[in-house]
Amino acid sequence: MPATITAIAHYAPPDILDNDYFSKYLDTTNEWIMSRTGISERRILKNGATSDLIVPAAKEAMEYRGLGINDIDCIIVATVTPDYMFPNTASMVQHKLGLTKAWGFDISAACSGFLFSLVTACKLVESGAVKRLLLCGADKMSSITDYKDRSQAILFGDAAGVCIIENTDDPNYGLQDFILKIDGSGEPFLHQVAGGSFKPASHETVDAGEHYLYQDGQPVFKAAVKGMADVSAEIMERNNLAPDDVSWLVPHQANLRIISATADRMGIGMDKVMVNIEKYGNTTSATIPMCLSEWHKKGALKKDQNIILSSFGAGYTWGSIWLKWGI
Ligand code: COA
Repeated sequence: MPATITAIAHYAPPDILDNDYFSKYLDTTNEWIMSRTGISERRILKNGATSDLIVPAAKEAMEYRGLGINDIDCIIVATVTPDYMFPNTASMVQHKLGLTKAWGFDISAACSGFLFSLVTACKLVESGAVKRLLLCGADKMSSITDYKDRSQAILFGDAAGVCIIENTDDPNYGLQDFILKIDGSGEPFLHQVAGGSFKPASHETVDAGEHYLYQDGQPVFKAAVKGMADVSAEIMERNNLAPDDVSWLVPHQANLRIISATADRMGIGMDKVMVNIEKYGNTTSATIPMCLSEWHKKGALKKDQNIILSSFGAGYTWGSIWLKWGI
């Protein structure tokens, strides 16, 4: 009995930073940003924490499914921008929503956070240990972005995507297969240097900007193109899925060029690829559930469709999931 997504919603805060805003005070242009990344706007949460991005989306998903505060057994939050180093953000969400019967935990896998959490959530539900799980992918990337650095400031935005995971009687819906990978040799190229046990925060680390995200774009770009394309092709091959069998590719949205390279390798046209990077930039753990939610809302996702989710992020972490849509 596979577990499936039975409700999905997202929240992106209303405040927008567009490319013209960055062109005014950084040495950059709309043309450079659009041609190198495909990003036009990103949303910023001015006040509040990652859990505040999750709460409105969680309320919407629970309402869609007709669930009350006693109906959720477990909460998983995928994030690299937790409200606090501890306690976990799942506890903050539990408290803010009053989900008195739920336990939960956070998962840290950067841009692959939603994929790693979706597999964990589905396996918990399939085992019978959990009946209804609130799965949240959310990041307040503005809290770790250096807005003085043109190579990072333009890339990221804040958002949350939330879904409910439950068992289905029909094996034709839900999680069908997954490939997940990690490789810590990627750490030097994409990381947050200070604030952890390796280098605790100090005046010196703050002066050096080491509390911000650091990315060496080119090696990450090369690893992402290969990593995402390889796992996406592999999951199709080992399940005998031809390009015509795939209704949607839902890729992590870090760079439009990485997305189109993945689609090319899978042999599918861009008309079957969910792309919203232009409006939101890279929202880390929120990206994939936010795409699913937007496409579900506009009626473009249909029951029985084969969907491939693919991601690449810090760690390195990457992977691909084959889902059969069941809402
Ligand atoms: N505006 C104008 N010029 C910029 C700029 C900006 N906003 N940001 C960087 N540049 C400059 C650089 O300084 C560099 O100049 P130089 O050649 O004089 O040194 C030049 O543009 C090229 O920089 P580079 O970093 O090589 O650009 P890029 O083509 O690799 O694009 C990224 C940068 C970040 C968009 C790209 O590398 C990328 O998408 N990487 C992967 C991201 C990813 O998948 N991350 C994993 C998930 S988070």
